[in-house]
Amino acid sequence: MNREDFPILNSGIIYFDSGATSLKPKCVIDSVVDYYSNYSSNSHRGDYDISLKVDTIYEGVRDKVKTFINASRVEEIVFTSGTTSSLNMVVFGYMAKYLKEGDEVLLSKSEHASNILPWIILSKKIGIVIRYIPLEEDYSLSIDKIKSCITPKTKVISLAHITNVIGDVRDIESIGKLCLDNNILFVVDAAQSIGHIKIDVEKCNISFLAFSAHKMLGPTGIGVLYGKYDLLCCMDVLSFGGGMNSYFEEDNSYELKDVPFRFEAGTQNIAGVIGLGRAIDYLNSIGLDKIHEHELELKKFAVSELEKIPNINIYNKNSDSGILVFNIDKVFSQDTAIFLNRFNICVRSGNHCAKILKDEIGTTNTCRASFYLYNNKEEILKLVEALRRQDEVYDNII
Ligand code: ALA
Repeated sequence: MNREDFPILNSGIIYFDSGATSLKPKCVIDSVVDYYSNYSSNSHRGDYDISLKVDTIYEGVRDKVKTFINASRVEEIVFTSGTTSSLNMVVFGYMAKYLKEGDEVLLSKSEHASNILPWIILSKKIGIVIRYIPLEEDYSLSIDKIKSCITPKTKVISLAHITNVIGDVRDIESIGKLCLDNNILFVVDAAQSIGHIKIDVEKCNISFLAFSAHKMLGPTGIGVLYGKYDLLCCMDVLSFGGGMNSYFEEDNSYELKDVPFRFEAGTQNIAGVIGLGRAIDYLNSIGLDKIHEHELELKKFAVSELEKIPNINIYNKNSDSGILVFNIDKVFSQDTAIFLNRFNICVRSGNHCAKILKDEIGTTNTCRASFYLYNNKEEILKLVEALRRQDEVYDNII
């Protein structure tokens, strides 16, 4: 789908690593080049035309993000460097103050490091208790299991919308309702879902939502933290400097700007914001429903073809996203990835930063092929063809 929009595909690579970062369409690349070539200047500081143009576009993108996720106010959109920084801001800027010793936070073992490690650090600092919701046999997460973990001490549920290894899609609307009924804050890591499935933060009662532009066809180094306005107003600022204060004086008095500007200290990633805005336009022009449908078709096709090959273990046949994890029996995943590279096929191997998922799936390392709108069945058949030559792995990797 729309392959001609992605210049890098002219190189002949078969790119199955969109879970790590997506490719960029020409319109996004052009928007960044246009900024640097034609109106490169700082934001919120200049009184001349090109800087005023930057301000208009930059704030316009904030508004586009608001609409994209159906936030109720534009002030609820904070630009960050990506999902990791957004989640760290939530944990250390908001939760460090809000939570008390003994309060419980529910996570799952399939979360990415960015949605576990900050909580571990916070638990060491203030004594919160992390509880891992048990997974189902297929490593998905059921509402019943979540319900069974809720106690009067549960204050937060923090989960990926789509997990980055198994690729299971969590029912965030039902989880959000559960949180609302039990007075629990709901944090959603949308890194793997934002450019794939429509998210409505209002409908899903999401307290905080974190995502990165680079996994939704936008540039690296830019992301978003959405927070309900009242929560953001109580969130501590973790980075101080220019652009986020109203004044400071010799006597140490100071005042910070309003939300969201107080969270955007220093010169921002302006090119990134512009590219993110263009990526949103592009995704909207195709439609997330169509993209998701295409990914599911590819995933099903890949599973059916890979099942025909001997010695392939697939770990997530049934998950409803474009993520497929597998291993060749008794072959180290990185060796498989290096072998596939010989065929110009890009997959990710390893633990994918989900380091405690190994307890559940019984292996530390897997190969992950993650599909996006620009992939097609011909490419999957090339993967299958390469994997049929698995006897050659060791001859090829040395
Ligand atoms: N978090 C990214 C991934 O899953 C990098 O590959």
